[in-house]
Amino acid sequence: MTPNPPLDPAQLRDLLQFYADAGVDEALEDEPQNRFAEAPPKPAQPKPAPSGKAPEQPAKASAPAAQPPSAAVPDEAQAARARELARQADSLEALREILADFDGCNLRHTAKNLVFADGNPEAEVMFVGEAPGRDEDLQGLPFVGRSGRLLDRMLAAIGRDRTSAYISNVIPWRPPGNRDPSPLETEICRPFIERHIELAAPKVLVTLGNPSTKLLLHTKTGIMRMRGKWSVHTTPGGAEIATMPTLHPAYLLRNPAHKKLAWRDFLEIKKKLGEVNG
Ligand code: URA
Repeated sequence: MTPNPPLDPAQLRDLLQFYADAGVDEALEDEPQNRFAEAPPKPAQPKPAPSGKAPEQPAKASAPAAQPPSAAVPDEAQAARARELARQADSLEALREILADFDGCNLRHTAKNLVFADGNPEAEVMFVGEAPGRDEDLQGLPFVGRSGRLLDRMLAAIGRDRTSAYISNVIPWRPPGNRDPSPLETEICRPFIERHIELAAPKVLVTLGNPSTKLLLHTKTGIMRMRGKWSVHTTPGGAEIATMPTLHPAYLLRNPAHKKLAWRDFLEIKKKLGEVNG
């Protein structure tokens, strides 16, 4: 590859502005780098000895080589630890603290903030999305970007807002560059969102989009076939919660013609909330 000619500061500023306007918010290299596979630093080599002297020895020949700071590689042991910790949480506040201290998911190390929940934890209805995006990561709150504004409008259409709805995500840390969370990252986060729902104990659960629907309803069926029909989410302790899968607001922004389907689902949710209260 021919190197680019150097840019002057004004050109650089314009280029950065262009990237920002285009929505670029991650600085990535052209080639992917596997940081987990990077070799630890080599132990110091003996300095060449001036002639006639014995070579200088490293201070402690048997000391182990220094290790780079460890990045948490998701593995099954972390998933087991997550299950145990989530079980221990006896309140939403305790769960939030446990998550804030949990270092077993690598997503936590690239995210700026933990995104735990927003809205009213006492509300009868809880919405669960997939994972925070850039705005959510910056503010530490779920659904505060473009799709969040659409979700607010959808809530308003059934007479609710964030004082009468509780909102969270399957994944509480933003995946870098908004990539999909890996299956193991999801498995590590699963016990936390399951316990979160159990502790909030909503009467009605709404899964937004494919990932949360598949995870919380243990199904492989896609959202287009699941949406609009009541299902049941079973909490780790065995409680059953009426669950409505519906389309994710981000999907609706890309496919506005499908808003009418979400509208039907929201009318069902409104009806069910009327029944559970009546
Ligand atoms: N999409 C999600 O699934 N969750 C958010 O919090 C924001 C966007």
